[in-house]
Amino acid sequence: MCALVDSWLQGLKIAPTLYSQRLLLRPICVGDVAHIQRCVNDRRVSDNLSYTPYPYTIEMAEIWTRNVDKGMTQGTCCYWTICNNKMNNFVGSMGISLYREQENCELHYWISAEEWNKGYCTEASKRIIVHVFEDLNMHRAHVTHREHNVASKSVIEKCGFVLEGNSRESLKRFGKFENVMMYGLLRDEYLALKAKGIY
Ligand SMILES: CC(C)(COP(=O)(O)OP(=O)(O)OC[C@H]1O[C@@H](n2cnc3c(N)ncnc32)[C@H](O)[C@@H]1OP(=O)(O)O)[C@@H](O)C(=O)NCCC(=O)NCCS
Repeated sequence: MCALVDSWLQGLKIAPTLYSQRLLLRPICVGDVAHIQRCVNDRRVSDNLSYTPYPYTIEMAEIWTRNVDKGMTQGTCCYWTICNNKMNNFVGSMGISLYREQENCELHYWISAEEWNKGYCTEASKRIIVHVFEDLNMHRAHVTHREHNVASKSVIEKCGFVLEGNSRESLKRFGKFENVMMYGLLRDEYLALKAKGIY
């Protein structure tokens, strides 16, 4: 119990709780391990992730969560658990890798398959992008998706990211080489989207 509270308190310092219309984003902690394992150990989710093994065991989820905890303490990443703010149920996870010297960060996410296509990923991504530019004062955010991942492509486009290129066959997943589409959003572009009411 003590470890749970410690991990949550530690996370809170680095990944503040964020609110959006329907969601609550709170720092990820070891108490989320069972939810993470259940959601990621689902081919619908796993097939679209870049490096996560399948099957995905509880031990793997524990190691991943502890590594994230360590990264948050060292300032190299922030990860949130996404919950529905009315039901308080686990919806998914979203994080940013931080490259502070470059004032740059990379967005990562997955949503539990039962919760797909409700706009949750777009809503959470937008909230984190606001945090990236308004609170962390980053110059740039970037994100990638595998070429065939149309749901992720749609989220990225709705967030206003600009397509920067196709990193051809740069990812080997389950024995197959895949193209990875790369997108970026600069501070000035974010401010222009904000002026248009997109943020
Ligand atoms: C990608 C992912 C996070 C999106 O989560 P989500 O909460 O369903 O996303 P949203 O509801 O905000 O948006 C999804 C969009 O994709 C669209 N979409 C979904 N499946 C689609 C399909 N087969 N063809 C075309 N569009 C599709 C939806 O219609 C929606 O767009 P719309 O709002 O314009 O209608 C989720 O599918 C997921 O977890 N996938 C597995 C892991 C993954 O891909 N992670 C990202 C790695 S880059």
